Amino acid sequence: MKRVDDFRLRLGKQELVPIMVGGMGVDISTAELALEAARLGGVGHISDAMVPTVSDRRFDTKYVRNKLKQYKFNVANSDKAVVKFDLGLLAEATALHVGRTMEAKRGDGLILINCMEKLTMNAPRETLRVRLQAALDAGIDGITLAAGLHLGSFGLIEDHPRFRDAQLGIIVSSLRALQLFLKKSARTNRLPDYVVIEGPLAGGHLGFGMDWAAYDLAKIVVEIRDWMKAEHLDIPLIPAGGIFTGSDAVGFMEMGAAAVQVATRFTVAQECGLPEKVQQEYFKASEIDIEVNTISPTGYPMRMLKNSPGIGDGIRPNCEAFGYLLDSSGNCQYIDAYNREVAAHPDAKKLKVMDKTCLCTHMRNFEIWTCGHYTYRLKDTTRRNEDGSYRLLSAEHIFRDYQFSTDNKIALPD
Ligand SMILES: Cc1cc2nc3c(=O)[nH]c(=O)nc-3n(C[C@H](O)[C@H](O)[C@H](O)COP(=O)(O)O)c2cc1C
Repeated sequence: MKRVDDFRLRLGKQELVPIMVGGMGVDISTAELALEAARLGGVGHISDAMVPTVSDRRFDTKYVRNKLKQYKFNVANSDKAVVKFDLGLLAEATALHVGRTMEAKRGDGLILINCMEKLTMNAPRETLRVRLQAALDAGIDGITLAAGLHLGSFGLIEDHPRFRDAQLGIIVSSLRALQLFLKKSARTNRLPDYVVIEGPLAGGHLGFGMDWAAYDLAKIVVEIRDWMKAEHLDIPLIPAGGIFTGSDAVGFMEMGAAAVQVATRFTVAQECGLPEKVQQEYFKASEIDIEVNTISPTGYPMRMLKNSPGIGDGIRPNCEAFGYLLDSSGNCQYIDAYNREVAAHPDAKKLKVMDKTCLCTHMRNFEIWTCGHYTYRLKDTTRRNEDGSYRLLSAEHIFRDYQFSTDNKIALPD
């Protein structure tokens, strides 16, 4: 019976344990978590979602406070078009987050950064270019392009000296999305180094509509694998979404996958950025406590725990401090929903906004508990403490369980 350790992922010159810990913003996949994956010979991800905020928390910088100070005059204004990111400061924050992480790297694995196109930041092209270039400048091993089709993203960095040697990959949820990306990037004469195929059971935003349950990861993998073969394309394929045991992973490797990307199991690692109180909520969850809804202002469905405190919370939009989801003209779907409720309830002290959420604020404060479909199985991966709480696991324990387990078994901690 095979186990994940019988396989290796080749990326560039490197031979890796074929386990990729997926990017989880905002700082849920911390540097500490990514560093553990790399130390153990696999691939870890940090995320550049809301990187100035993350830098403030990690390094005591003051990016958010200063941005809020600069735009304070606009806080009560529903038009957010003036609220712009300073590109120099954005590069600086990225350099800090990436640079410090790479300095701490030990072992033979890789550390990549997850960059979501949907963080449009009131200037989509300019901010994305800076984010990608600054990460390359700061020595990241590679970039995973996420949450968007990224039709122009290779073009944004094609002149960068590291464009051809850094590992660059893309997350897709369909063959069509991959075909579009390859077509639009062909001009740069560079193929992605890996393709993550994310199915409907993943955490975070989904690349499907509300009919997500009609899709099956294995079917999408086979479709993409067969098309690539017919096109004589040899790019490592990395399925993601609902791969909960080492045996699940082996199943995909035997179908021709080069590695797997996993995340949910690591949400209950000590190294994960979620506060422990929230991790206990993940452990406690039953299947009926998890939903896919449309409250994310990005327009993508998102999976989360139904008891997330951010759901329904009608706070004033916080774009002067954050503003990561402002589109190219300074709009966000949450602002519209909030204004509608203000107009409908002009005298209310506290508003409820049910159809959208201020995702920046609530992800920053760990109040939207996004999670994978199999979160309800996390309780089976650990033991309970005397007080009834669940024991957190080390990232090493989870990583090695994926690497060495067979027969769908999950090793409990000692
Ligand atoms: C808490 C959480 C946050 C996530 N955040 C992101 C993100 O910011 N960007 C992204 O591309 N994927 C995100 N994902 C998706 C993961 O990177 C990964 O592809 C997927 O969850 C793998 O499936 P699994 O969780 O069932 O193992 C997130 C997943 C979880 C569980």
